[in-house]
Amino acid sequence: MSHLFGHNGAEGEGYSQPAPLTTAQTPSVPSALVRARPARWPRLSEPEMVRHYTWLSKRNFGIDTGFYPLGSCTMKHNPRVNEVIAQLPGIADIHPHQPEHQLQGWLSIYYEMQHMLAVVAGMDDVTLQPVAGAQGEFTAIRCIQEYFRLRGEDQRTKVIVPDSAHGTNPASAAMAGFEIVEIPSLEDGRMDLEALAAVADETTAAMMITNPNTLGLFEADISEASRIVHDAGGQMYYDGANFNAILGITSPGLMGFDAVHFNLHKTFSQPHGGGGPGSGPIGVKSHLAPFLPGPVAARDEASPEDVHRSLDGHIYRWHEPEHSIGKVQQWHGNAGAVIRCWAYYRRYGSGLKQMSEHAVLNANYLRHAIHREAKAAGVDHLFEDGAETEVAKHEFTLSMQPAKEALGVSAMDVAKGLLDRGYMAPTVYFPLVVPECMMIEPTETESKDTLDTFAEHFAQVLKTDPETLHEAPITTPVRRVDEVYAARNLCLKHPFDEA
Ligand SMILES: Cc1ncc(COP(=O)(O)O)c(C=O)c1O
Repeated sequence: MSHLFGHNGAEGEGYSQPAPLTTAQTPSVPSALVRARPARWPRLSEPEMVRHYTWLSKRNFGIDTGFYPLGSCTMKHNPRVNEVIAQLPGIADIHPHQPEHQLQGWLSIYYEMQHMLAVVAGMDDVTLQPVAGAQGEFTAIRCIQEYFRLRGEDQRTKVIVPDSAHGTNPASAAMAGFEIVEIPSLEDGRMDLEALAAVADETTAAMMITNPNTLGLFEADISEASRIVHDAGGQMYYDGANFNAILGITSPGLMGFDAVHFNLHKTFSQPHGGGGPGSGPIGVKSHLAPFLPGPVAARDEASPEDVHRSLDGHIYRWHEPEHSIGKVQQWHGNAGAVIRCWAYYRRYGSGLKQMSEHAVLNANYLRHAIHREAKAAGVDHLFEDGAETEVAKHEFTLSMQPAKEALGVSAMDVAKGLLDRGYMAPTVYFPLVVPECMMIEPTETESKDTLDTFAEHFAQVLKTDPETLHEAPITTPVRRVDEVYAARNLCLKHPFDEA
């Protein structure tokens, strides 16, 4: 069946619509905004709509359809038990305006989640308010800014980021009004301590860094970096997007960080894509806790006579920190995401360490499997010298530069060739410090069989005739788009909107 875009269902109506209200009936709405004629909804029956959406869903690709090795995005299986728990009436039917004494269970979940995140990150306090990693970055940087303002250290106007940083790091700091100081990475992709020492001074507010970094490499000198920044009076900010590589093994607190954001939707599972919907709580050391956005869940001891005490014998309440930077999100943050992640944490408990170990194992296994398969297929120009001996964390980068020089095939060509073989493409051209970069993150939920098969397909793509690869993909619903044309001539309207 063909799709229904642009089809207005000439034969009858599948819905009934109330007549538009008149201006007199809606005095508070400006007359220019009052609808003059019925909305132009498609006149479709229920079966037609069901078929339309089912058809659309079949043209989509997601983690439930196939392997999704999108580096930096942690697209892993989301256990369905999370959904069951998030849909329980006692959870799904809560209203954020309900009085605290009716929310003791809900508040205890928030309290427990805050506590658990603080423990695994080596922090003292947590807020669950931000709804994305990037918003967490902004929130924490604002807390650091307020901390310095209250101490009278207004001269701290700079934030240091390595050149391998995710783009959201400098963007968040710039949004808060900081000047960005970028430091170059060493040849091996790790941070350059000398470059850091040269820029850290009394104008430094913070350094933002992720560890493992965006190349999937662990920054072994991180404690020394923390010492340099702290000696200059600055704060250390941990971008926790890669936390799923270290959970239960080490922590930002142990590495000397003062603040951290978590991409709950990556480490603790939760559907995400296109930037959300997610959850980006932040954790901080005690000196930054008074600046956190509220409400945060707090708990007090309760007397046995208190009829409102929760089942565990405490009284839970919302709390606004003393010097809070203010709200960054309405209500309780992205509550559905928090609950799903809490369910995940409750399900696996101390097994979460194993999750990290498997994520790292899978990444290294796949890295070598690709190398092995490529060599077996006669493609020996895949890795740059020395790169094959590197140990990655939960993700790794491949440079397609040698392949480009030998075959004229770019990272984008290989990515598109993988689409034709039924895979989501890895992340391409990020981080920018790696020429012709492909970034692959298999996650812990994939089997050895899946990884082996992917490696074989990867090698086959590299063996494909370059002319064919330049044309790929040819089997997907949408062929390769001219991205420059699309960006320059942006059109967000479907022709149906104009009908
Ligand atoms: C290293 C890193 N930092 C920050 C972010 C931003 O997180 P979010 O997409 O949740 O805003 C990402 C997202 O992929 C990331 O990989």
